[in-house]
Amino acid sequence: MSIKPSITVMNGPNLNTLGTRKPEVYGRTTLADVEQMCRADAEKLGLELRFLQSNYEGQLIDWIHETGPAFKSGESIGMVYNPGAHTHYSYAIRDAIEAAMVPVIELHISNVHAREEFRHHSVVSPIARGIIVGFGVPGYSLAIRGLYELHEAEVSKNLKPGVRT
Ligand code: DQA
Repeated sequence: MSIKPSITVMNGPNLNTLGTRKPEVYGRTTLADVEQMCRADAEKLGLELRFLQSNYEGQLIDWIHETGPAFKSGESIGMVYNPGAHTHYSYAIRDAIEAAMVPVIELHISNVHAREEFRHHSVVSPIARGIIVGFGVPGYSLAIRGLYELHEAEVSKNLKPGVRT
């Protein structure tokens, strides 16, 4: 049985098309390549990786709910999440994160603030533990590292990550 804590990297709608979808915006790296990169990053940090993608809001909500108890028990250090277009309007996703009380690093491959107006607003950002925007696919590595550092700092202070004051 593994005793490594896990990190969840989750991707919302349309991210399965990475590599072919608007390569001028998202690049040519596929989601399978992203998973490989995240797996290597997690391994270096001594973490188990749970890598997920769905085009269905309900499935994503179920996975967020599952991460809550895993975080509470110390099995999981939290979640890196690219919510795709749900970012801009899904109060259901936002409520799920809030209910799960799990630290989430919101991640966007593109710089959403330099794009269409509807992408400038995020319903997730106010409850995210941190945000990575516009670094391309390498942003996943930055987010994993960032969540790990937050976890280590908060554990050493004897605080639970994600607890907001
Ligand atoms: C995205 C940005 C969103 O606006 C868009 O709907 C996506 C991808 C990004 O990674 O840059 O699907 O989250």
